[in-house]
Amino acid sequence: LLHQDTYLVNGELKKWTGETSKVYSTISSTEHYEPTLLGTIPTMGEMAADEVVKSAVAAYDKGQGIWPTMKVSDRIKCMEDFVTQMKATRSEVVKYLMWEIGKSLSDSEKEFDRTVEYIYDTIEDYKELDRNNARFTKSQGVNAMVRRGPLGVVLCLGPYNYPLNETFSLLIPAIIMGNTVIFKPAKHGVLLISPLLEAFRSSFPKGVINIVYGRGRDVASPIMKSGKIDILALIGNSKSAIALQDQHPNKNRLRLILGLEAKNPAIILPDADLDLAIQECITGTLSFNGQRCTALKILYVHETISAEFNKRFAEKVDALPFGNPWEKGVSLTPLPEVEKPNYIQELIDDATIKGAKIINQKGGERTENYIFPSILFPINKQMRVYHEEQFGPVIPVLTFKDIQEPLDDMAESNYGQQVSLFGRDIKTIGPLIDTLVNLVCRVNLNSSCQRGPDVYPFTGRKDSAVGTLSIHDALRSFSIRTFVASKDN
Ligand code: G3H
Repeated sequence: LLHQDTYLVNGELKKWTGETSKVYSTISSTEHYEPTLLGTIPTMGEMAADEVVKSAVAAYDKGQGIWPTMKVSDRIKCMEDFVTQMKATRSEVVKYLMWEIGKSLSDSEKEFDRTVEYIYDTIEDYKELDRNNARFTKSQGVNAMVRRGPLGVVLCLGPYNYPLNETFSLLIPAIIMGNTVIFKPAKHGVLLISPLLEAFRSSFPKGVINIVYGRGRDVASPIMKSGKIDILALIGNSKSAIALQDQHPNKNRLRLILGLEAKNPAIILPDADLDLAIQECITGTLSFNGQRCTALKILYVHETISAEFNKRFAEKVDALPFGNPWEKGVSLTPLPEVEKPNYIQELIDDATIKGAKIINQKGGERTENYIFPSILFPINKQMRVYHEEQFGPVIPVLTFKDIQEPLDDMAESNYGQQVSLFGRDIKTIGPLIDTLVNLVCRVNLNSSCQRGPDVYPFTGRKDSAVGTLSIHDALRSFSIRTFVASKDN
């Protein structure tokens, strides 16, 4: 059991003596199913919120603090020190990724390694940014040295599906650009931050990074209400993002960097390589049980190949092995949210009442912490699963006759992150791409949707995102362009 009885404030791991909350895993460690108690975390509220806000504000000191005025090379040294210490925590963090969120061993290891790589790449990009900025250039009679400066205090909230990688893709650029940060880990994926606390504490000057625990409404709301937050950086759901913005007394001062919901479609054209399309749709819909903002969440299959696609896709889905995250070759793993199987069941019931069928044999089979992926066909717009971001193992499939049908649906959708397009004829695909890039931000040709590599923009249109999070863009999102002008030659 891990009793996290400290929190990070003012450069100190301060003892928490108040109430605590239990952290459970939906994975059972006994033969007769019961959730496993993993540990406890502090249940923080207004007083702790006030304390961390004061700490972050003091460290920023209206732009005059040690951190925002520190030489770039020294800030980089702090970040290098952090990542060196972080690497030593790999096995422990991976263990918590498996237990807390049910991510398979190989995916947990990937998440850890990818995060370390993200930090190194951020450091390199930051050096490059600084090299390009730190010299005078003359334009229209004015010598100017353009620099990127910090914006202030950042509240950083990450999601449970990538509690390390996604969260750090906010946290790391926010810190390195000279801002100070308050970070509240996700509800599932919170204990895995514990092994990193000492690295955070010892690598950065006091108050640069502050870590709190508790429910959003108890601790994040008062932080926003303080009016001291300059950037709200959140990857999660729109509802929380809107609620938090609304708490801020002066929204004009608040910059938003948000990664939100998506309903990424796959469009499978009549001439698609079906083997490839099916394989990519398996990965796209079901990797980490579909709990990815980048997952494929609705499949449009041309009516001429629909029967063949459904048959082969259903067989492949039924063959996916389910097991605990550390079991070899496992593909489907327990769902970390205890209520998720019931939600998925609701979507299935709603769709089947309205005319869809589960077309794979094992679809909807239940255990205590899982519901086997269901392929629902045919879907229509009256069904909840057509509209809602399921974020779990249920796959809505529909057919189309004319390509304009999925295009119109995408244009009407509230979301606009990515699309996967499967087909071979370049004369069809070429003009389609020109339209698709105006509906979403990434078009994946003959492959499923995904975030990486982080050299490319990660963003979305409409309700899917605010701001862009490639490494390059994130450094810019968390800073402001300033310049020193001189008329001297
Ligand atoms: O949930 C959104 C993540 O950024 C997905 O990343 O596409 O690499 O799984 P991924």
